[in-house]
Amino acid sequence: MSVQAFLKLPQRVYLGEGLFNRLGDFLKTRKNTNVLLFTDAGLLKAGLVQPIEDYFKQNNITYQIESEIKPEPSYVQVDELLKKVSNFDFDTIVAIGGGSVMDAAKLISLLIHTNLSVKDLIDDASQVKKQCATVFIPTTAGTGSEATINAIVAIPEKQVKFGIVSDAMLPDLVLLDVDNVKNLPKPILAASAIDALSHCIECYTAKNATVMSDGVALLGAKLIFHNIVKAYKDPSDIKAREALQLGAFYGGVAITASGTNIVHALSYPLGGKFHIAHGVSNAILFKAGMETNKPAIKDKLASLCDTVWPEEGNKSVDEKADFVINKIAEVVKDTEIPTDLKKFGVSDSDLDFLVDSALEQKRLLSHNMKDLTREDVKNIYKSVM
Ligand SMILES: NC(=O)c1ccc[n+]([C@@H]2O[C@H](COP(=O)([O-])OP(=O)(O)OC[C@H]3O[C@@H](n4cnc5c(N)ncnc54)[C@H](O)[C@@H]3O)[C@@H](O)[C@H]2O)c1
Ligand SMILES: [Zn+2]
Repeated sequence: MSVQAFLKLPQRVYLGEGLFNRLGDFLKTRKNTNVLLFTDAGLLKAGLVQPIEDYFKQNNITYQIESEIKPEPSYVQVDELLKKVSNFDFDTIVAIGGGSVMDAAKLISLLIHTNLSVKDLIDDASQVKKQCATVFIPTTAGTGSEATINAIVAIPEKQVKFGIVSDAMLPDLVLLDVDNVKNLPKPILAASAIDALSHCIECYTAKNATVMSDGVALLGAKLIFHNIVKAYKDPSDIKAREALQLGAFYGGVAITASGTNIVHALSYPLGGKFHIAHGVSNAILFKAGMETNKPAIKDKLASLCDTVWPEEGNKSVDEKADFVINKIAEVVKDTEIPTDLKKFGVSDSDLDFLVDSALEQKRLLSHNMKDLTREDVKNIYKSVM
């Protein structure tokens, strides 16, 4: 039986070291080269923006830098920045940073020169068009935002996070330059790589997974499982960091055709109300989410086991599924991600808020293979408290 499948992809993607020339080549193809160089304070401090500025100066490229975006921004913060940057007449955004920077840059690329705001896109993003070219240079490994059609913003009045979705968010150019993750601090590396792993595994086990999303999700899961602890324990292991960067990209591509579900849906209220970093809240919920889903996804988990650990081939389907779930718990532990919800200020009295809010994530939960009851969701939160 033939099946329909698709992947949505950025126009062009380069992987390697010293990729500035690729940026230069791309800018030469543009009529004008007025660049909004979009980044955040952490990236400036890490010294990753200076080489781009030097390159722009040497090549007479007009640019303006904007670095006020905060990690995991609210829609209000992005709207404020939109107003600020609208004073500058740019035709290209070069965004260098993690998911927070790239997501805000995506929204600005849709909204600049329009009368719309981020709030409008939260209500309906179906008709928006891209207003300028975008180049994404990820520095975490990572959200895969450079490959997705999503931008995530916090909605403070609802204490939750929300994903705005539009094909127009796909970038013109992506540079996966390993130089940008060589000095990525260990806690950020751990959290963002677990986020990437959850993209791959949730997409692989999702209701709407296809042969094409499965292909990239498996590639990503294999790269991340085999390299996350190595990259965490030995910062000089550049090959392991490069593998995480590529695995994270594949996770993003998988999202465009499949979708995250149980872990991300329950993660958003933890980010929205308690400001737990996205990768950390996913790490907290990952094992419990997979255990709850296991009856519906064990065949998929077993085939993931066959790809990532073929040496476990003699095990039964149940044993392989458990093996993968235990590996998830193992990498969270080995990368020392803080998982005690109480330390983040979450208590039993927050349970009802968390459950109500997670059940509101209907877009994500519609991708989940198992239909979740209120009791299922409550039990997951209880099990990680
Ligand atoms: N659009 C998507 O498809 C998608 C997918 C997953 C997550 N997200 C969103 O992305 C955000 C999280 O992004 P993130 O995990 O990449 O982190 P981030 O962008 O929030 O960055 C976290 C911190 O790390 C610093 N940092 C980043 N790279 C660094 C480097 N190389 N060296 C030193 N410091 C560095 C930043 O300055 C920042 O302070 C969340 O809002 C999440 O919801 C989006
Ligand atoms: Zn994520």
